Amino acid sequence: MIRLKRYIFLPVVILVIALFSAELPAVITGQCSDCHTMHNSQNGAAMVSYVFGSETTDAKEYLLVGTCLGCHAQGGASMVANVNGIDTPQVYHTDATGDLAGGNFAYILGTKGSGASDAKGHNVVDFGNTEDTLLSPPGHHEPDGIGINITCAGIAGCHGVRTSSGGIYGNHHRNEDGKLTTADQAYNSYRFLTGVKGLEDSDWEKTKSVSDHNEYFGATSPMTFSSNCNICHNPQGIRPSNNTISGFCGTCHRYFHVSDQVNGISSPSPFTRHPTDVILPGSGEYASYNGGSNPYSLVAPVARTTIPDVPGDTVAPGTDVVMCLSCHTAHASDNSDMMRWDYKSTTLATAISGCNVCHTAKN
Ligand code: HEC
Ligand code: HEC
Ligand code: HEC
Ligand code: HEC
Ligand code: HEC
Ligand code: HEC
Repeated sequence: MIRLKRYIFLPVVILVIALFSAELPAVITGQCSDCHTMHNSQNGAAMVSYVFGSETTDAKEYLLVGTCLGCHAQGGASMVANVNGIDTPQVYHTDATGDLAGGNFAYILGTKGSGASDAKGHNVVDFGNTEDTLLSPPGHHEPDGIGINITCAGIAGCHGVRTSSGGIYGNHHRNEDGKLTTADQAYNSYRFLTGVKGLEDSDWEKTKSVSDHNEYFGATSPMTFSSNCNICHNPQGIRPSNNTISGFCGTCHRYFHVSDQVNGISSPSPFTRHPTDVILPGSGEYASYNGGSNPYSLVAPVARTTIPDVPGDTVAPGTDVVMCLSCHTAHASDNSDMMRWDYKSTTLATAISGCNVCHTAKN
């Protein structure tokens, strides 16, 4: 009996070690101690840990050296910061050369850009500045449990598992990069947005060009409600059943994406709200998207119905689709309503500068 146990025990230990190391793969580089501290103590003194905009010495959950914002919102001069030796994408910074793909929460607080405004982005509560104008996500269904208390992750957040007990836990180490077509867990979804497919740019668009950018997944028609709550309510948490980035935004801004008997968008034309997950027609003004041979536009980009292996430098009218991120950023921009360009400008050419990338006859 004892001998038998040993025979079973050893292979099991080896298997467990093998599985555990397979769970800590390539994507996160660096030493454990760059991001974790076992006792929050060195030579009898507490360690430095990072919180939003400053440093403390108190111990953090999961034995980490910082909170989400401590690692990702240091407020420094670079959009990718070196946190304890690791390149960490920043969602809050003052880098004058640009912003990462999601935008920059610093525009809301006014530490970068033309001045503070709640309308410039998602007022994530962790930043300590709640939205003053809106009462809930525009376009949401009743009951709305989150109100304006949007967070990084969890039931009221965007990243990770969207349940009341969910969050980001367990995903950094399993994070899959590049082309993500499974998207049934947070770690194999686009940027931990559970359910969303796409192609992740390796430096989060720190450097970007027509041939160097993220690729977003789109569909040829928006999600339809038809009394099916499961288009958003999955047993494992909130997620868009159509796996698109616009469906993702539509989980909270329902009527702006979902075609719905009562309040949602109608499709096809005439539309009652600007459509997303509709094909950019291959005829009329849309055929000359961005002029000439249809180069990809970084001002008003499109989504793809098939995720390419490498970023595409052209757009195909008749195939590619409009998405929420054709016009908006995800976190915040320097423009009202998180727009990618200044749609509120009193100079017409500026106001329509993104619209006419697609509506080329409206110049
Ligand atoms: C670049 C930063 C970073 C490094 C380096 C790092 N971790 Fe982590 N680790 C995290 C973060 C962030 C979390 C918590 C959030 C999450 O789970 O996604 C975490 C969570 C964990 C967890 C709990 C969740 C899970 O995935 O099992 C374990 C265990 C863990 N780390 C072990 C390690 C070990 C062992 C090393 C060294 C081989 C290491 N970590 C190196 C950032 C890091
Ligand atoms: C100890 C520092 C640390 C903490 C704490 C931390 N992160 Fe990260 N995170 C990183 C690093 C480093 C990367 C880049 C490496 C990678 O892509 O996995 C990263 C990557 C990400 C990404 C991009 C993943 C991708 O697909 O490119 C997201 C989204 C993210 N973190 C969200 C969060 C959220 C939300 C929290 C809090 C719940 C959090 N992180 C806490 C260090 C941290
Ligand atoms: C987890 C729910 C949630 C998701 C997902 C979500 N939003 Fe929001 N959104 C909100 C809430 C809550 C507000 C109102 C509070 C605020 O603006 O801070 C809001 C406000 C907005 C506003 C108005 C900003 C203002 O202050 O006037 C825009 C524009 C917007 N969202 C666009 C998007 C886009 C684009 C996506 C997808 C990339 C998206 N949202 C995904 C919850 C969400
Ligand atoms: C377009 C996406 C979408 C559809 C469709 C949808 N929901 Fe939701 N629902 C959400 C999101 C996102 C949340 C979590 C955020 C919140 O509570 O506002 C939520 C939360 C809820 C909650 C919890 C509210 C609270 O107080 O926390 C209930 C209950 C609910 N939904 C019921 C339903 C029912 C029943 C249906 C079908 C008739 C439905 N939902 C259809 C997106 C959707
Ligand atoms: C064609 C460009 C375009 C697309 C695509 C688009 N929006 Fe907008 N959105 C705007 C503009 C412009 C505004 C400013 C207000 C207005 O003119 O309606 C706006 C305003 C908003 C607001 C604020 C509404 C309020 O009550 O203050 C939210 C929320 C929003 N959009 C979410 C979304 C979501 C979610 C999607 C995708 C399902 C989306 N938008 C797709 C251009 C767009
Ligand atoms: C990424 C491309 C794209 C951008 C950017 C864009 N649109 Fe559109 N727009 C479309 C497509 C595609 C349709 C639907 C065409 C169809 O199927 O008939 C549409 C439809 C419309 C319609 C409704 C037409 C109808 O038949 O009901 C209006 C109005 C409109 N857009 C205005 C705007 C404005 C204003 C902006 C800038 C704030 C804008 N669009 C930006 C692609 C775009």
